[in-house]
Amino acid sequence: MDQSERKRLVAREALAHVEDGMALGVGTGSTVDFFIDALGEHPYRKLCLVSSSERSTARLGGLGLDVTELSAVGDVDLYIDGADEATQHLHLIKGGGGALTREKIVAGAARRFICIVDDSKLVGRLGKFPLPVEVIPMARSFVARQLVKLGGQPVWRRDFVTDNGNQIIDVRNLEIARPVEMETRINQIPGVVTVGLFAHRGADMLLVGTDRGVEAVT
Ligand code: A5P
Repeated sequence: MDQSERKRLVAREALAHVEDGMALGVGTGSTVDFFIDALGEHPYRKLCLVSSSERSTARLGGLGLDVTELSAVGDVDLYIDGADEATQHLHLIKGGGGALTREKIVAGAARRFICIVDDSKLVGRLGKFPLPVEVIPMARSFVARQLVKLGGQPVWRRDFVTDNGNQIIDVRNLEIARPVEMETRINQIPGVVTVGLFAHRGADMLLVGTDRGVEAVT
């Protein structure tokens, strides 16, 4: 089974957690695209969908599924999203697609967060995948210098603007031995909007697509 098939498998498995009448947060990325497509095939009743990106909003809309603003919904019952890296402790790196800020907001508002990944995303320690940091444009160089002091190598993601009109720095070679502490330190740098470390609010459950089927980590 190739990676794309493992993504599709785990995305379809996530449907088993969706119930009629839910306020459902929808993440962003190629794995979530499979989830959205599966959602479109099922006749759920009274689902209230909250999207984490313009990309997912457009895909949902293409299937005739309307989205509601988070502020009009309050908390969401369940959030389904992918990740770029995940650990057995349910800590994540997200933001490879640049949607980390809205993703972190929806995850924060979620009573339950199920992260869907294929098994290539499982790691013992986070940080091989460059850590995305969304920054206010005028702060980019300043934030980059602070990230160097933390031991990373910041690289500006050129020609990319987030849904919020900001820029992304991808931080390479960062030692993330203590994800909660690192998330706090990067959050405290002025000009940082969001760091793609999801440790304070990690996933509640990880569904992992493998050749042997879908495995759950809680
Ligand atoms: C989007 O910004 C990311 O956080 C995605 O959730 C993450 O990059 C996973 O993407 P794939 O499902 O495409 O691997």
